[in-house]
Amino acid sequence: MGYDVAAEIQRLKKEKNAVILAHYYEDGDIQDVADYVGDSFYLAKMGQEVQQDVILLAGVVFMAESVKILNPTKTVLVPDLEASCSLVKGAPYDQYLAWRRQHPDGVAVTYINSSAEVKSISDVIITSSNAQQIVESIPKDRKILFGPDQHLGRWLSKKLGREFELWQGACEVHVLFNAKRLHELIVQHPDAIVIAHPECDDSVLAHAQVIGSTSRLLEEVQKNPAKKFIVATEAGIFHQMQKLRPDVELIQAPVLDSGCLCNNCPYMKMNTMDKIKHALETLKPQVGLSEDLRLKAKTSLDRMMDITSGKPVTWPSQFSI
Ligand code: 13P
Ligand code: SF4
Repeated sequence: MGYDVAAEIQRLKKEKNAVILAHYYEDGDIQDVADYVGDSFYLAKMGQEVQQDVILLAGVVFMAESVKILNPTKTVLVPDLEASCSLVKGAPYDQYLAWRRQHPDGVAVTYINSSAEVKSISDVIITSSNAQQIVESIPKDRKILFGPDQHLGRWLSKKLGREFELWQGACEVHVLFNAKRLHELIVQHPDAIVIAHPECDDSVLAHAQVIGSTSRLLEEVQKNPAKKFIVATEAGIFHQMQKLRPDVELIQAPVLDSGCLCNNCPYMKMNTMDKIKHALETLKPQVGLSEDLRLKAKTSLDRMMDITSGKPVTWPSQFSI
């Protein structure tokens, strides 16, 4: 019989007392060896709760950093330290700091898709599954600085009828979905439900019946009796959708160049089963943060956790770094 990398990963998990948390955008074989699969908020929460000594985060580095910030005594592994995110890359610390300083009276609401450094100068972290609840908890008279994802920010700002100062970052995967081609596809499939992640451009979101985080989109496929869905998010999530609803047809929302694999996140897809096995064998690479940075970044993540669990929070009146 051939070498079974999945079985070897399961063995290593026991040997090292490790747990694997995976994002929905990973390949199906990675999701299948994971103990928990979910959206970025769920992964942060599970990362805080799990008891094992070693946490391997099969996702991108900012997700593993969030786990390390919240649960510092654990060894936190990532299969590939190069697995970044275009939103992280598009929000360098110095520029974000300068932007904050321009609006010292604003509350900085920052997407979890950001570096630990940017989190350290933010007031609260959000994900697409809790953004509305968190923004609604900020007093109405406070100005909101929202970054780094302009599309998520614009969608939320319209939804809540509240103006934001927007950082102009974007997800390089979701912005490729094309509204004109999506419209043509909807005409061909009038019976399909269109579901989209809020990182998509406005023009694409305008065609969607359901807009939400990866877990929200998965929930829609699970619960909606429709037999056909057009899905405007990263292709990895099809794995769980198809598992939950083998009876439905899932159609990828189109990008302009139909020949490319643009709906794959190049960072999520850096992770492989072999890299996961190697990380568990060697306990490397680990995410490392200085204690000073970790504590500074933790304040904004703690506010997210407190608000989502119904605890009262206070907001700093001025930014003063
Ligand atoms: P979710 O929080 O919806 O899982 O999104 C994470 C992400 O990176 C989307 O591109
Ligand atoms: Fe970042 Fe986009 Fe990849 Fe999500 S899909 S990790 S936002 S580049």
